[in-house]
Amino acid sequence: MAASSSLLALCGIATFAISLLYFLPRRRQSFVARSYPPGPKSPNMPALDAWIQYQEWGREYGDLVYIQEKNMLILNNFHAAVDLLDKRARIYSDRALTNTMKVCGADTLLSAQQYSDKWRRNRKLFQQIFRQSICNRFYPAQYKKIHQFLHRLTVAPEEFMQHTTSLSQGLIYAALYGLDIGSEDPFSQKAVQAANLLAQAIVAPFPAIERFPWLRFMPPWFPGCGFQRIAIGCVQAIKEADTIPFEKAVDNLKMGMGTSLVAELALENEGRPTEIEEIKSMGTTSFLAASDTTLSSISSFLLTMTQHPEVQSKAQAEIDHVIGRDRLPTFEDRLSLPYVESVYRELMRMHPPVPLGLFHLSTEDDFYRGYHIPKGCLVVPNIWAMNRDPNVYPEPDKFIPERFLNSPTGPFTKINNIIAFGFGRRVCVGRYMADNTVWLAVVSVLATLDLRKAKDNEGKDIDILGEYCKTFFRHPLPYRSAITPRDLQARNLILATAMVD
Ligand code: HEM
Repeated sequence: MAASSSLLALCGIATFAISLLYFLPRRRQSFVARSYPPGPKSPNMPALDAWIQYQEWGREYGDLVYIQEKNMLILNNFHAAVDLLDKRARIYSDRALTNTMKVCGADTLLSAQQYSDKWRRNRKLFQQIFRQSICNRFYPAQYKKIHQFLHRLTVAPEEFMQHTTSLSQGLIYAALYGLDIGSEDPFSQKAVQAANLLAQAIVAPFPAIERFPWLRFMPPWFPGCGFQRIAIGCVQAIKEADTIPFEKAVDNLKMGMGTSLVAELALENEGRPTEIEEIKSMGTTSFLAASDTTLSSISSFLLTMTQHPEVQSKAQAEIDHVIGRDRLPTFEDRLSLPYVESVYRELMRMHPPVPLGLFHLSTEDDFYRGYHIPKGCLVVPNIWAMNRDPNVYPEPDKFIPERFLNSPTGPFTKINNIIAFGFGRRVCVGRYMADNTVWLAVVSVLATLDLRKAKDNEGKDIDILGEYCKTFFRHPLPYRSAITPRDLQARNLILATAMVD
């Protein structure tokens, strides 16, 4: 009995051991495979202000919120975003490109391209142009456009929103093509038209082609292929936006009317049609990626300063002390102005232009914090929520530059800490240029102008609600303000500089 029971015990132990070896990994895997991160079941997906609802879900379910029926993972925590999108970038750097976007020509734009050799080649071209070490090549265009902005704010202050649009759109044409183009110009209208058509295609994909991808090869008259007309219009608009400023820049170079970055690149690549097409697309992508984002940041700055005169005064006192009153700020002043830097950092924290960044797509099954993240998962970095994490930023809805000024590291930390620029291998490729543009606009406005609330007929302040549009690119809705030069000296400085530029 003792012998047989010990034999049984041994068999039992052996069976258990074998089961451990054989079954456990499978059981573990199937257990883990079922444990997706928590999240709401069949929720109504918000169309507007989605980042607020996602942040709400974050409070209920935690840092990771998974919407199973959409295979979508919302990241509400900075460290989780870095762990996945940065440290595991190899499998989290794809983009979801619908068939509709493909037929509309969106795959010529770097930001929409799938993680592929084509993307790598194009990204290299962007990095060659926008990398930090040579960003000073944009300084002349940045000074010129921002000084022009100050001038316009001085002579027609009530049109401040229009001036901000002109600055944001005109800067890319000046920096890349050497062209002086305003937002009314047909060049930028073309690119805006392309952007609008693409936006429609993204928001409302064509159901027929999403179901039957082969329809892309059929003509517009084929039953169910009416979408082809819209798609052809979109491709045409992108092509024109690509070609018109490119040819103008090349012509200018050939006729000795001025050189530019794009024209020089075109000359270097003469006779290489693929490279020429990529250079053209680089220009259009830059325009589309830069104009709305820069517009959003600078508009948010103007609004925030109007709401916070005490911050303005403090920043102006710093500028007066460091720079004085008889010249405009330059990039060389940046490291001497910690409070201005803190204003800029707090602006980028509170008002990320793209609150949900651009979605990444996973290309392999993954496990993280005990959860399974399936291949093909749409990963949404909720930059809005990360920037309002009360554990990192106490009183997150208040504009407090001192949180950066008095932090142990101080305000001058590396640009990767500005999470408004996104994550990992898809992080904003134009971020060094963008950072310089927004900073220079911030410091130049503070140095020369006072931003106050407008007054009504009785001389009382008109309240500013501080409302924002609720769509993908977040920017302030129209409001009234009073923008005036700080004094006669500032006015003369603005007018004199605009004449020299
Ligand atoms: C305040 C200004 C800007 C902000 C806040 C901003 C923000 C962003 C964000 C959040 C992304 C997505 C990153 C990700 O996928 O994780 C992005 C991508 C991109 N940005 Fe920016 N951006 C700005 C200005 C610019 C400028 C000036 C340029 C170029 C001239 C630019 C070019 C691009 C491009 C090409 C991509 C796509 C990169 C890729 O998919 O590989 N951006 N940007």
